Amino acid sequence: MLKFQEAGGIGTPLILLHAFPLTSEMWRLQIEALSNEFYVVAPDLPGFGASSDFESAPSIEQMAREVAALLDELFVPQPVILGGLSMGGYASLAFARLFPEKLRALILCDTRAEADTPEGKANRDKMIALAQSESGAAVVEQMVPKLLGETTKNLRPDVVKTVTRLGLAQSDVAIANALRALRDRADSLYLLPQIQVPTLVIVGEEDGITPLAAAQTLAQNIRGAKLAVIPQAGHLSNIEQPEIFNNIVRDFVRELP
Ligand code: MLT
Repeated sequence: MLKFQEAGGIGTPLILLHAFPLTSEMWRLQIEALSNEFYVVAPDLPGFGASSDFESAPSIEQMAREVAALLDELFVPQPVILGGLSMGGYASLAFARLFPEKLRALILCDTRAEADTPEGKANRDKMIALAQSESGAAVVEQMVPKLLGETTKNLRPDVVKTVTRLGLAQSDVAIANALRALRDRADSLYLLPQIQVPTLVIVGEEDGITPLAAAQTLAQNIRGAKLAVIPQAGHLSNIEQPEIFNNIVRDFVRELP
């Protein structure tokens, strides 16, 4: 079973799925701020943080299945609000496809519906080779500057340090396996018009990995979806602008039908 952090205990379940190459720890400021209103559960996806590695071939779909299994283990009876950032967003889309009955609402943050392009896949292969020939740390060092927006990199060395530390603590195997899962993930564009639950799309305006255009594609193709753009934030918008991020989530949930 996936390891997880939980807080709150009462209120609507809010499940938060983290980005690559991080852990549930990236949601610390959401867990602290939102657990007075929600039952917040933040799992470590397979291989990351305290969770063990994939037992079968690594895939985004398997991540979604393990999240569903965790909800069963936790006896979460009602449909959940599922929020995922980037890789966590891919897993959230897979969850929406596999377990629509378990969903109350979706929050897709700094993510995209499209599969990797051939060039993107070739780059994943290079990164996997780097993780194997050198280390996962070498991958993390290349990734971190892309994860954060220019504003954060210029003004918030503490955030750069925290994100780097979190990435460097992950194992070589976890990093290589997640890269395989990211490379091989299915295209979810076709799924978007089938999503029936209220959906919020969030993107940092300085996100260079999954930019505004990717968020617009999500919001335009999911019926009734709302789009929120967070200023002065890059790809890790929840860490870079936590208060704005948390307020957007609260407002969205308060307006749920
Ligand atoms: C992530 O933040 O989870 C990754 O950047 C996702 C990706 O590389 O596609």
